[in-house]
Parts: sequence; C-alpha cells; structure tokens
Amino acid sequence: MLANTADTKTFLAMKHGGYYSNAAAGAEDVILGAFDLIQRSLDITLVEHDEKSFRCADFGCADGGTSLKMWARVFSSIAEKRPGIDLELFYDDLPNSDFNQLFRSVHGLTNFKSYLQEFPSVLTFASANSFHTQVLPEASLDFGFSALASHYLTKPPCNISNHIHMVGAEGDERANFQEQGKLDWERFLGSRAFELKRNGTLFVVNPGIDKDGQHLGNVGGVHLWNIFNDIWKKFVNDGVITETEYRSTNFPQHYRTVAECIEPVTDPRNAVFRSGLRLEHVETRIVRCPKARAFTEHRDVDRFVNEYVPSLRSWIEPTMLKGISLNRPSNERNSIIDKLFEQFTEHVKIKPDGHGFDYCDVYMICRRAYLPK
Ligand SMILES: C[S@@+](CC[C@H](N)C(=O)[O-])C[C@H]1O[C@@H](n2cnc3c(N)ncnc32)[C@H](O)[C@@H]1O
Repeated sequence: MLANTADTKTFLAMKHGGYYSNAAAGAEDVILGAFDLIQRSLDITLVEHDEKSFRCADFGCADGGTSLKMWARVFSSIAEKRPGIDLELFYDDLPNSDFNQLFRSVHGLTNFKSYLQEFPSVLTFASANSFHTQVLPEASLDFGFSALASHYLTKPPCNISNHIHMVGAEGDERANFQEQGKLDWERFLGSRAFELKRNGTLFVVNPGIDKDGQHLGNVGGVHLWNIFNDIWKKFVNDGVITETEYRSTNFPQHYRTVAECIEPVTDPRNAVFRSGLRLEHVETRIVRCPKARAFTEHRDVDRFVNEYVPSLRSWIEPTMLKGISLNRPSNERNSIIDKLFEQFTEHVKIKPDGHGFDYCDVYMICRRAYLPK
C-alpha cells in the first residue's frame, strides 16, 4: 500500500449541477479527438490480456459528462476483441466533486447519452481519493485514463505576487510552481505505476506548454490569464477586493513542458521509471475552441458570449471564489464573482475576435513494462 500524503478536503471542485459538462464542450472534443491514441493504448494492453475482466479508471472525472462518448467507444472496442468480458470502470475525483451528477449522467438521468444504454453490464464504481495518492489496489488496473486534470496541484506552493496563474509567475515563485509540479506529477504517475498490471497502460492528456511556448489561454489569440488577472487587480484598486484577497487567488495548477512531462518515465534514476512505468508515446496538439469556431461563421456576438463565457466559468469560478475572504457573507462573495464575469463578458463583447478556449495539451501513453520484485 502507498502512504496517503494528500489533504483534499478543502480542494475546489468544478461548478456543480451538470454546469461543468454542459459548458465544457471543448473538453469532449479534446477527449474524442484523442481516440486514436486511446485505441493505441488499449491495443497495447489487450495484446497479452487473457483475464475474465478488464478494469478501467478515469482519474479526475468531474461530473463524467465529457467522457461518456469516449467510454462508449472504449467498451465497444474491448467487447469487439474480447466478447463476453466483464468491463469495470472506476471513476475518481475529489470529495467536493459532484458524484451525484456523475451517477445521474452514467445512469442516463441527464441530457447526456450514457454508454450503459449500449453496454448495460458495465460495472461502475467511484473513489474520492486524490489521484496524487493510491486509488486502486496494487497491480489491478488494465487501462488508466486522465483528461485535463493532472495539471492540478495538491496546493499552490506559494502566493504569486503579481498574477493569479503560474504562467504569469516569475523568479522564485515560478520555480516553486515548477518544483510542486514535479513533485505532484511524480506522485500521480508513481501511484498509477503502482496500480497498473504488467502491460497495463495509462493515457493522459493534460494542459501543457508546447515548443512554441503556447499554453491554454494563450494560443495565438488573446491572453486569457492576463485578462482575468487585470480585472482582478483592478478590483483591488476599485475596492471590490482587498490586496490580501488578490494575493490569495492562485490557481493550483502547473502547465508542464513536454520535457517535464516525460522526465519521470524516461530518466532511469527516477523512482517512477524504476517502478516499471515507461513512455510509449508523447506529442502536443492544439484543439480549437468549438464556440469560437462557430462564431467565425455565425458572427452573433451575444450567442458567442452566452456559449463561451460559461465554458470558462465552469472551472475558473471555483478558484477565484476561493481567493475571496470567508469573512464576507456568501452572497457578497458570489456577487464579486458575478461582477468578475460581467466585466470579462464586456471585454469579449467589445472585441470578440481572438477570444476562445483553445486547448494546448500534452498527450502521453505510458505502459507498465514490469512489476519490480
Ligand atoms: C477540468 S476538470 C476535467 C474533467 C474531465 N476529466 C474532463 O476532461 O472534462 C479537472 C478535474 O480534476 C479534478 N481533480 C483535481 N485534482 C484532483 C486530485 N488530486 N484527485 C482527483 N481529482 C482531481 C477536479 O476536481 C476536476 O473535476
């Protein structure tokens, strides 16, 4: 058993009540667009697999809506090659996540079509352990999947004095995020290495920094992180929030370069590598924001704003809210957040071109090559 080092009780969650999956259509595009690599991952695992059941896991699943279609394709692919095999899917997210909504989606009680309609015998389970620690029993996992989640850190390592996100951090503060990013990535991969069976595979797609320095929020158009930071800073000058609240607002995320991503599975001195996890494939891809793409054709600014702003709000709101003092009544905290998104919306309305929630992600396939004695 691995030691549990994660304190997750106060960690944020995506916006509840299905808001996340309904708003984050781009996440589904990223996931489905990666199916060539997911299939490749499954094929590696299936080569030697001769057991009666096949166990999958989705680490950082949120409310589950964005991955339903992908899991349908995964189960269809496995069932075609291994008819009659028992299929298991473990969902994992943090305790504050909306597990109720997750199971409502999985059981077809929302507007999403579930794979259970096609594959009613898939067995589903859930865990609220942090993915930075052990989630599943040792050597029990055939295929692990994680999308747009493992850039989240256990905690921000420090306040960023002049920004809300590590992409704007400098000097020691930037180095602290790099160090925390390395530690947490090794915890994430080390835990998966421990859980995977021999020849089991892990597919991860994660916001990162590509060779041209691009990253989520800065892919050739506007710099989203700078816009949100500027509004938040202006709120200090306008007396909407305090300087302390500004400094306390730090996204617990680290966007890794490709070199940072692959180091634990390519460096023979690294504990993850020594636990048998190996890199099978790595690449970066850019996936354009579907709402911005549609806007280039319909040119209806109000429609664009109504579709695009919620896709950001679904995951930006929880961290911004966390920065606001708990001494304020909750309606005041919420109205500050409403004001933030009102000002952001005004920004988009004035100059919509260049806006968009474009993904810049690192895609990796890892395989557990052996189980150390
Ligand atoms: C942006 S959402 C991605 C959700 C989904 N995988 C997708 O691609 O649409 C990131 C998810 O990771 C979860 N998460 C962050 N840190 C985590 C941790 N330490 N353990 C498990 N889940 C975590 C968050 O709660 C959130 O639901």
